Amino acid sequence: MPLDPETRAQLIDTVHRFVQEQCVPIEAKVAEDDLVPDSVIAGMRELGLFGLSIPEEYGGLGLSMEEEVLVCFELGQTSPAFRSVIGTNVGIGSQGVVMFGTDEQKREWLPKLASGEVVASFALTEPNAGSDAASVRTTAIRDGDHYVVNGTKRFITNAKRAGMFTLMARSDPAKKGAGGISAFIVPANTPGITIGKAEKKMGQQGAHIHDVIFENARVPAKLCLGPEGEGFKVAMQVLDRGRLHISAVCVGVAERLIREAVNYAREREQFGQKIAEFQLIQGMLADCKTEAYAARCMVLDAARKRDAGEKVTMEAACSKYFASEMVGRVADKAVQIFGGAGYVADYGIERFYRDVRIFRLYEGTSQIQQIVIARNLLRGAD
Ligand code: CAA
Repeated sequence: MPLDPETRAQLIDTVHRFVQEQCVPIEAKVAEDDLVPDSVIAGMRELGLFGLSIPEEYGGLGLSMEEEVLVCFELGQTSPAFRSVIGTNVGIGSQGVVMFGTDEQKREWLPKLASGEVVASFALTEPNAGSDAASVRTTAIRDGDHYVVNGTKRFITNAKRAGMFTLMARSDPAKKGAGGISAFIVPANTPGITIGKAEKKMGQQGAHIHDVIFENARVPAKLCLGPEGEGFKVAMQVLDRGRLHISAVCVGVAERLIREAVNYAREREQFGQKIAEFQLIQGMLADCKTEAYAARCMVLDAARKRDAGEKVTMEAACSKYFASEMVGRVADKAVQIFGGAGYVADYGIERFYRDVRIFRLYEGTSQIQQIVIARNLLRGAD
């Protein structure tokens, strides 16, 4: 059930105030410490942010995709590291369970994910299976009423804090490609799981990615997510949804950067006048606004289509492709408008410039989105 307009406006306003009051003032410190403080995470829990997309019957807010996108526009108004804290519970870590879980699996896991008591992580990528996700080598071999998991997952967001993994592993090694892959819920305390060190990254300090190593980890067969052998499709449908979420965050970040650039251009004087008076600056601002607005409209349209029950694989790929490239261009122009100050850490613009680079890579690179769009077109989608 969509929220009534008043409740929706209240929710957006609450998230807006949380972001502006609790997150924006500490952005630089979070980046410096490479840590989002527990007090902020507690605040996110209190607001129900971990459960945005989890149905109300399991303790979440049960937002529609459109409502989640509107919330992400707000979450994007600060360093993306904050969003990453809740990102896997709202998106790729939990949605396999929401969409494909049995009643028992949902009852067991969703309330804990919705409250933030348990953090979910999405374990698909491997050292040799990035864009080519169907080539995963991690195996899950049936042994009585368990599967025995062996392999290494790479760049797994929130792995260190995770209480459960949505894992994609090859349950039928005789089958190459997508057909032999199954999805599983794996409790993080399963013996045989080791978490690697946090990777040093270009940006988004405060958000962490790790290897996850499985050595003879025994997973109960009842934790298979969806039918055996259908795990690749689980992953792809989870990613279709995740790509809309990321697109909305890109829009939020772009809007923040445009605001920063406008404010700076109004203040900064050169050649005896505010730089906002110069048409070359105005041209950059206008390009940024046009693109951000186009991305906002695109992701909202795709979200509404998804809420109406349409398959939005192509629209989600269009949104992710356009919005992630758009925010890269906007961040670049923001640095340009700030000039030397844009390159200096104190102003924070260079931090966003680094932070947004990942949006063109994770949850499918721009090139993968192009492939998805083209394949769908050639198959006859509108
Ligand atoms: N919905 C439902 N089913 C789908 C689907 C979708 N969106 N996409 C594919 N499938 C189905 C296909 O219909 C096909 O089914 P059949 O065999 O029954 O016909 C099966 O899945 C295999 O599909 P393809 O033949 O298209 O598979 P492919 O090997 O050619 O790969 C791909 C397709 C689009 C390139 C895919 O591999 C892909 O999206 N790669 C990118 C992976 C990715 O996004 N990784 C991000 C990891 S998560 C992350 O980044 C977050 C983090 O924490 C860091």
